[in-house]
Amino acid sequence: MEPLITDTDKTVGVTGGAGFIGSHVVRLLVKKYPRYRVINIDALTYAGNLENIKDIETYPNYIFERADICSEEHIDRLFSGYQFDAIIHLAAESHVDRSIMDPLAFVKTNVLGTGVLLNACRKQWSHDMEGKRFYHVSTDEVYGSLGDTGFFTEETPYDPRSPYSASKASSDHLVMAYYHTYGLPVVMSNCSNNYGSHHFPEKLIPLMINNIINNKPLPVYGKGENIRDWLWVEDHARAIDTIFHKGKTGGKYNVGGFNEWKNIDLVHLLCRIMDQKLHRPAGESEKLITYVKDRAGHDLRYAIDATKLSRELGWKPSLQFEEGLGKTADWYLENQDWVHHVTSGQYQQYYTEQYGKR
Ligand code: NAD
Ligand code: TYD
Repeated sequence: MEPLITDTDKTVGVTGGAGFIGSHVVRLLVKKYPRYRVINIDALTYAGNLENIKDIETYPNYIFERADICSEEHIDRLFSGYQFDAIIHLAAESHVDRSIMDPLAFVKTNVLGTGVLLNACRKQWSHDMEGKRFYHVSTDEVYGSLGDTGFFTEETPYDPRSPYSASKASSDHLVMAYYHTYGLPVVMSNCSNNYGSHHFPEKLIPLMINNIINNKPLPVYGKGENIRDWLWVEDHARAIDTIFHKGKTGGKYNVGGFNEWKNIDLVHLLCRIMDQKLHRPAGESEKLITYVKDRAGHDLRYAIDATKLSRELGWKPSLQFEEGLGKTADWYLENQDWVHHVTSGQYQQYYTEQYGKR
């Protein structure tokens, strides 16, 4: 299939490029497409960290812009300055537990912020949509919660249950509204849980790895029976690259690992891997497992059917889970400074040192 977006000189804005998944996407684009000018647009919230992309910050085709996607004035200014050909939109508030504590922050960034970006594209591209693309990166959580069987397909009706998933679902609807109403050339993907390097240690896998290293309790919500479908973050970045270049305009693609795990089984597996890496006696880390109060409205099971993406665009996950977890554990063990910085706020200092106060 001919790519819809070709590797000619293009200016691609990536929002949320200092976050977990965004940093992997920016790295892939900057290295793979030297003729693209990649503009990383990120507000640097607690989850955004320029250390995540330190290795590519001196590449000539990479530019960082600190901006809040909710600021229409700032986003419009960036659009006039850079004349973007495409936006890959990842910036979001992304943690379910935080959305339960502060839902409006999620409504603001995920709904209003997405609206501001869509509107900027509409205004900028209204005279000529040829070769333009708005790619919205979303989550499988918009589909709600599965029982013991079944999978989410692209046709599964939306049924979000947390403030996070409801805000992402709203943003997905806005994206499709701009497609149908204004003909904006959009494409979207809904992915399962990611894991890998540079993951902020408030999410399950990095939190468990970090707590095992530090001999701290491993808080398992409820009975640990909830199920998630885990995907290596670099495989997600490859899927985004594929969908960005080849996905059908107005299309929607599910991305998943075909890799379902009960939380408690996953934590046991991590304990075994970490015992080996830390040269602890077998069974030592498991003693840290502590059952805690369940998350409110905790979705039981997510499972993605990603056959459309593999059938139409040829993408497949590359890594087996145990291998990916092993690599992830190694990364955290080798990058304890990174963990220390993101948990202590020192990376904010890095930003000021690197870029000055803006
Ligand atoms: P993250 O929380 O690690 O990173 C989010 C990034 O967005 C940060 O760099 C942050 O500074 C930036 N940001 C937040 N608010 C902003 C604002 N108002 N303006 C500009 N920048 C802002 O998130 P992630 O896990 O990398 O997720 C990225 C995207 O992928 C999100 O849209 C999320 O919904 C989606 N997603 C995540 C997963 C997952 O497992 N993590 C799975 C499927 C989809
Ligand atoms: P999380 O990484 O927050 O991702 P999401 O809620 O978006 O799926 O959580 C993954 C699963 O792990 C989810 O079922 C909640 C559970 N969990 C725990 O049991 N303990 C924890 O400390 C965390 C952060 C999550």
